[in-house]
Parts: sequence; structure tokens; C-alpha cells
Amino acid sequence: MNKVFLAAISIAFFTLLSSNAAVYKGQKVFVKECVKCHENGQVFISKKKIKEWKELMDQSGKALASLHLKNEKAKDSWSYFESKNYEKNSKNLKQFLVEYAKDSGNVPACN
Ligand code: HEC
Repeated sequence: MNKVFLAAISIAFFTLLSSNAAVYKGQKVFVKECVKCHENGQVFISKKKIKEWKELMDQSGKALASLHLKNEKAKDSWSYFESKNYEKNSKNLKQFLVEYAKDSGNVPACN
């Protein structure tokens, strides 16, 4: 078999694998950190468009964090949004949110 073809296949495979891994990790973050206040996760996520989620999650999720840090009602989330952990995982969370955005074409499994 052609070497170039093999290389192309394996690159495609690893790209697929790693983006799925990010979505999966992002989902874990969402379930752990967001669902306690935003229940009905996938419905909540599908209310926003890809572009809107991207804007909120740009620069390590700066806009999303400040939106919560400004709001007294979100006080219980402040320690998380100020943590290094949030910054570190923001890329995965972004992937997950974008994956299930309104215009992503991915319909949640049970709805
Ligand atoms: C302690 C509770 C709490 C946690 C935890 C929390 N939020 Fe929020 N969030 C709020 C509150 C309160 C608001 C303000 C909106 C409101 O008053 O309904 C808000 C607003 C938002 C908005 C804007 C809503 C809109 O209609 O534009 C988004 C998006 C959002 N949160 C996403 C998240 C994500 C993603 C996480 C997890 C990383 C998260 N939130 C974690 C309490 C929380």
C-alpha cells in the first residue's frame, strides 16, 4: 500500500480521535462544574450558536468567566472561574459547547 496514503489515513484518524477526546473532556467539565446551576445541559447549550459560544470561550473563556464573576447569583461558581483549572480546561469546554451548539447539526441523543 502507498505510504502517503497510509500517512494521510493515520493523520485523519488521530485528528478525529483528539477532537473527540476534547469534546469528551469538555463534557466532563460541563457535567461537573456547570450542570449544578444550568441543569438540562444540552438544551442549555443548544440555545446558543457556534459563534456565540466561541465568543464566550475565546481567550481561555474570559467572557464566560467575567459574566459569572459579575453576577452575585453565580457566587458559588466564582472559585471555579478564578481557578487555573478553568483556564486549563477551557479549550476542551469550548470544543464541547461548540459541538452541541444550535447550528452545529449535532442533535443530542435523548431529546
Ligand atoms: C453557581 C452557579 C453557576 C455555575 C456553577 C455556572 N453558572 Fe453559568 N450562570 C449562572 C448565573 C446565575 C447566570 C446569570 C444568568 C441568569 O441569571 O440566569 C449564568 C449565566 C451563564 C450564561 C449566559 C446565559 C445567557 O442566557 O446568555 C452562560 C452561557 C453560562 N452561564 C454558562 C456556564 C457554563 C458553561 C458553566 C460551567 C463552566 C457555568 N455557566 C457555571 C450560574 C452559574
